[in-house]
Amino acid sequence: MILASAPAKCVLFGEHAVVYGQPAMAVALDLRTQVSIQANSRTQLEGCKFQPKIHPHIHFLLQKLWPKSSIEQRLSIEIQSTIPSASGLGSSAAMCNALIACLRAARGRRTDQQGHWLEGWSSFYNSKQAYERSSFDHYEMPPNVLGHDAISTDECGLLAHAAEAFAQGGLASPMDTSTSAHGGLILLGTNRKEQYLYTRELMVNQQIRSWDINHIQPRFPEDLYLVIGSTGVKSSTREQVKHVAELISNSNEHASYIDDIGTITMAGLEAMQNGDFVEVGRLMNQNQILLEKLQVSSTELRRLIRAALPTSLGTKLSGAGGGGCMIALTHHPEQTASAIESAGGTSFITSISKDGVRLESFENILGF
Ligand code: MEV
Repeated sequence: MILASAPAKCVLFGEHAVVYGQPAMAVALDLRTQVSIQANSRTQLEGCKFQPKIHPHIHFLLQKLWPKSSIEQRLSIEIQSTIPSASGLGSSAAMCNALIACLRAARGRRTDQQGHWLEGWSSFYNSKQAYERSSFDHYEMPPNVLGHDAISTDECGLLAHAAEAFAQGGLASPMDTSTSAHGGLILLGTNRKEQYLYTRELMVNQQIRSWDINHIQPRFPEDLYLVIGSTGVKSSTREQVKHVAELISNSNEHASYIDDIGTITMAGLEAMQNGDFVEVGRLMNQNQILLEKLQVSSTELRRLIRAALPTSLGTKLSGAGGGGCMIALTHHPEQTASAIESAGGTSFITSISKDGVRLESFENILGF
């Protein structure tokens, strides 16, 4: 059996606007999804026949890393998660990253004598193929690197983004997938910062969108917490991004909110770098007002946000909206969590996960 895990994320600033190339900031959380794979006579998910239409992310990733034409052995896939699904916490991004790590560890990678990759996807190569639907080429040679050494977090993030784009009808930023792949605090923008990782590009609404992905050091004070409030209402990211796409293509006013959210994200970054978390909270509240205007909030989200506000520096929905979760930045996590619970939500007091995707255990299931 091979087992890998990857973290959830929450968005401090910039969801939706980031799909159109605006900056955004997200942080990996200590909630994780675990994926395991085993050799099997047919493809199964959770003990049942695999249904590609119901699981587009998994279908896409199997086409990329486990094409029928070149690997005879089929797989049984199991998923376990402490991340509530369809709730804006990046459960599908975490699942994708953990599955990619499992598949890549199992089927390995060919490298030359200097250790350079002879196959695979990375931002430093031409990664366009990762976004195309065709399956990868045939592997005539056995891999010479397996397990942990075959995994690249960059490749995990890239393929996970391609899978999200496939599942979200082409409207997807690399925010959730890169945050889950690398862990810590991720800034997506049009500027390369000190800890620049790579740039991703994708055609969104007939325009090439480009995101520079940077790691930044959070420098969160020890007495400051992120409390998550889940409405328990499941929501489809694909539907929410489609709704925003329609709204902004029919109204210049709505289109301008996308730019305004980008401005708030950059102000949020500056406030965070200055250690001014009162300002960070104020900007989160402003971001929420714009998300309301983009019609991605909901009655349940508003109820939890209102309940959390008196004990928080700032609160907003996190992720696609329409249900799902809100976050609160607070010095009083217990009070904020109990206010969320009293308003009918489920609360989690979380901390930031420095770790991104991780291979937990490895066994050579193909017998290379
Ligand atoms: C979903 O967690 C975040 C969105 O901005 C979509 C995306 O970035 O792909 C709504």
